[in-house]
This record gives sequence, C-alpha cells and structure tokens, in this order.
Amino acid sequence: MSAVKQMKIKEHYDTIADVYDHHYDKNRGRCYHRHISTYIMSVLPENGILLDIGCGTGLFVDRYIESGGTAVGLDISGKMIEKARHRCKPCDFAVGTGEKIPFCDNAFDGIASLLVFSYVRDPEAMLSEAHRVLKPGGSIAICTLGKKLLTRGIPAIYQIGEKIKVKHVVMKDFGEHYYDKKEMEELFIQAGFSDIMVKWCSFAHIDMIDPIFHIAQKIEPFVENRVPQLAYNICVSGKKPRK
Ligand SMILES: C[S@@+](CC[C@H](N)C(=O)[O-])C[C@H]1O[C@@H](n2cnc3c(N)ncnc32)[C@H](O)[C@@H]1O
Repeated sequence: MSAVKQMKIKEHYDTIADVYDHHYDKNRGRCYHRHISTYIMSVLPENGILLDIGCGTGLFVDRYIESGGTAVGLDISGKMIEKARHRCKPCDFAVGTGEKIPFCDNAFDGIASLLVFSYVRDPEAMLSEAHRVLKPGGSIAICTLGKKLLTRGIPAIYQIGEKIKVKHVVMKDFGEHYYDKKEMEELFIQAGFSDIMVKWCSFAHIDMIDPIFHIAQKIEPFVENRVPQLAYNICVSGKKPRK
C-alpha cells in the first residue's frame, strides 16, 4: 500500500471520527464490536499494560480498562484519537503509525489491534515493532478481515461505492489487503512470536438489517466453529518468548 493510500486512510478517519464512533458504539455495531473484543480479551493478559494499535475512538481501550488493566492507544488519525481521549480520560494516547511505534522496548504486557491490519502498508514492520515493545512473555492479538468467500467482493464494492459517492463509514477504496491463515501465521513466525493461535470470527455483520442480524448472531458460534469459511474476520494471537 502506498504512502498516498495511507494518507487517504488518515484523512478518511479524521473526517468520519464522529460517525464511526456512533456506528460501532450503538445497536448492531456495538454487538459486532463486543463480539470481536470478547475474543481478543480472552487471549490477552488481564490487569496488564496494553497497547492498542489503531485504537480508533478507544472502544477496545475502554473495554480493557473496565476489567482492571491500564491501556495506551496509538492511531494515525488525530480526530479518532481526540474521541478516544474523551472516552477514556485516564488513558494515554498518541498519534502515530503501527509501523513505527513511539514507545520503548519491552514496555507492554499485551498488544491488541482490532480491524486495522488490512490497512497497514508494511505488516512485517508493524509486527516487528509490536515484538520490540512487548515484554518477554507478553501476548499479542490481532483481528482483521480475512481472505474469504464473503470478503472477496468487498474491494470491488468499495471501489464502486467510492465512485458513486455512497455515504458509508468505510465505503472507500484504500487498497486493503485481506489475509488468509497461512499468511498470518508466516508473518507472526517471521516476527518472532510463538504459541500462535488462529480463530475465525464474525458472521453477524453490522450492515445486516435487524431480524437477519439477530438470526446471524444466534448461529454465529456454530459458523465460527463448524463452517469457518463463512466467518469473515481472522483473529491471530501469539506470545513473545521469554529468553
Ligand atoms: C476500522 S477502524 C478500527 C478502530 C478501532 N481499532 C476499533 O476497533 O474500533 C481502523 C483504524 O485504524 C487506524 N489505522 C489505519 N492504519 C493505521 C496504521 N498504519 N497505524 C495506526 N493506525 C492505523 C485508522 O486511523 C482507524 O482509526
């Protein structure tokens, strides 16, 4: 992904910070986001110091500190960070990119990144930086759109959406990359992580109309475990080995 695309992502999230927050903190958006964050929470240490890369408006940071931990958020969009600061007053936030994390080595017990990795220009750099700032024995968990049957057509839909100027939170062409299990495992191994686990997550989509969303929610656990080719987010976790 080019630097121009990254600037486009930043400008986009600067523009839609309010809309994004409303979209993912209410009704179906909240259910969808909480479903992902419940899994991510389950593989991160409780009560530790967390870094959330691409923290957006602080939805996950807020959830993490509710359970007793401390968290720091990082995002390329200053406007998303403004909302995050407002939501989570006791936490620290920084504007910057996951590919060059502005924190010192071995600083965090856990690293989370939700719905961001598909945008990242240099995924190797982001994972190498995540490894650097994680304490030995610390955990990382990333959830991003996977390369699946249901996600194949999304880039084309976004390109059309952008051309005809559809007003939607993410209806834009950012040249996103969707990952399969093998690609994610290879990236995690190359960065030096161990204990790698992959789970397919999400079937109830925020853009479904209500009755369909509720049915999809009911069958979501079955889809994730038994028909993972229909679940569209991939959640990957790992640990930084102790020396
Ligand atoms: C779909 S939002 C997800 C926000 C948040 N993680 C959540 O779960 O609500 C994607 C976020 O990733 C941020 N982002 C995109 N590329 C990034 C990068 N390379 N480094 C840091 N943040 C990035 C965007 O600014 C945006 O806030």
